[in-house]
Amino acid sequence: MPQPATREQWASRLGLVLAMAGNAIGLGNFLRFPRLAVENGGGAFMIPYFVALLLLGIPVMWVEWAMGRYGGQHHHSTTPGMFGLLWKHPVAKYLGVLGIGFPLMITIYYCYIMSWTLAYAIFAATGYYAAPTDETVAVKRLAVAPAELKALRTKLSLKEDAPITQAQWNLAAADFTTLDVDHNGELSPAETAVVSDPLGNFHTKRFLKEYRQNGDPGESGRYFSSIWPAACFWLIAVGLNTYVLARGVSAGIEQLAKIAMPLLFVFAIVLCVRVLTLTPEPGATDSVWTGLNYVWEPNTSKLMNFGTWLAAAGQIFFTLSIGTGSIHVYASYLKRDDDIALGSIGTASLNEFAEVILGATIAIPMAVVTFGLLNTQAIAAQGSFDLGFVAMPLIFERMPFGSLLATFWFALLFFAGITSSVALSSPLVAFLQDELGTSRRTAALICGSVVFLFGIPIVFFDKSGSYLGQYDFWAGTFGLALFTFIEVVIFAWIFGGTAMWEEMTRGNHVRIPRFFYYIIRFVAPLYLGILLVGWFWENFSSVVLLEGTAAPEAQFLWLARATMVLLLIVLCAGAWWGTVRRQRKLASLSVEGGAA
Ligand code: ALA
Repeated sequence: MPQPATREQWASRLGLVLAMAGNAIGLGNFLRFPRLAVENGGGAFMIPYFVALLLLGIPVMWVEWAMGRYGGQHHHSTTPGMFGLLWKHPVAKYLGVLGIGFPLMITIYYCYIMSWTLAYAIFAATGYYAAPTDETVAVKRLAVAPAELKALRTKLSLKEDAPITQAQWNLAAADFTTLDVDHNGELSPAETAVVSDPLGNFHTKRFLKEYRQNGDPGESGRYFSSIWPAACFWLIAVGLNTYVLARGVSAGIEQLAKIAMPLLFVFAIVLCVRVLTLTPEPGATDSVWTGLNYVWEPNTSKLMNFGTWLAAAGQIFFTLSIGTGSIHVYASYLKRDDDIALGSIGTASLNEFAEVILGATIAIPMAVVTFGLLNTQAIAAQGSFDLGFVAMPLIFERMPFGSLLATFWFALLFFAGITSSVALSSPLVAFLQDELGTSRRTAALICGSVVFLFGIPIVFFDKSGSYLGQYDFWAGTFGLALFTFIEVVIFAWIFGGTAMWEEMTRGNHVRIPRFFYYIIRFVAPLYLGILLVGWFWENFSSVVLLEGTAAPEAQFLWLARATMVLLLIVLCAGAWWGTVRRQRKLASLSVEGGAA
């Protein structure tokens, strides 16, 4: 077997655990998780979340660490080579290509969001997004939820653009008065918009819209009049990602994790301490504890709701980076008898601490104490960007030392983001090195160029964010579950239960309970199968068929899909060429051996 002279290795055990934690701890922990937890009923979300962690997250982490270590012993750091080892079938390596393609697609949009965090850290430190002196809007604390308003419109058969009169309004009278800004006795759509988008009129919303250049034309120009500032930060983020990758495993990825992870935890702990000392504004009833109770009070109200189970399992995949092919790459630099059980439990524990303790303690209680629980739910329903980039800067602005704390918040997000984006790009870099024989530098440059080229539509043309949404759904949600299903079946069934268990249990400092053998072989594939069918079914008309999407927008989204398919085709061609290359090298070695 042709082998490179030396394989890269982790310089230390601590470095490996920090790099793995850096891989897992990302924007998902501090932006995606709080938004999903609030949107899906707080304590009602946590039960499916912990079930998915136990039945999918932890066992699949062991599977991926074991597969990665096994592949590394055979000089394959990525899943095309690993699947080819585990299943001697020509199709195996092409299935493995998904473990390079999906993380690459996630990197393409992830780098852009990560670049916002870098930009916002600088804006926060310099006070660039500060409130204009003419801003007079105040947060309206209402007792009416968006769903109630929607139900009222439906009951009255009112269209979205019809006003609501006082006589029609059968919700709280005080809310009517608060919403009726011009006191004309009826609520215009602009006046009721604040129920579903409580921050719609604030400067931080306008700032984000202008930064992304996705606002109304009349809204441009107060802070930014072109996309170029955002594009420059994006180029810096892609450049930093490429630089770390080019430096290699121990000098690049491991060093980054050793700096970024401790800083991230320090910033997060400072913010948590600050949150726990917040008091509600005069007249407000929701406190920090209302926010924390909302997340931690067990609540079985949504256990029969399939969507909540899907959201919880999707978050477990995303946050632990399972199904992304990146854990395989990091684990491939282990030695044959290195522990994997403790390492993966350590990584998962650090990630869960960062997510459910730190992640849940920062954004949710802060928003609840400032805007009230109902408004926080409405903000979360607008998406993670509203919570992280619109609500949080607004909250920090009202605090002493707010600009310092806001800088900590965005720096924390940046460190979380870059350690994950480097991990998500690692499968492509390792594949180019191992299978196509390029140097690490060339591989990093190729990866950076792909992220740049395929990111152009997202940065310059994706006004509504739906192109990015296609990447996030197909690669970051459906793709992760699909890939995990494939790898579990290959490892636990085709490679075989006994061989799998031997690989998973060798060299461990702690014993993996036998109970997980059955979980991996039976429960995980079944659970994943149900999720995949459910996901497909729930999103079939809106996401898969793009029903309800206007024609020009739909064409743009089909373009997004075409670029994803193109990436997979090119990677399949790479996998094919890698096999031909290895076979040729083997043949020439045996000729040389024969001649000698
Ligand atoms: N695991 C990474 C995150 O949570 C991708 O953002």
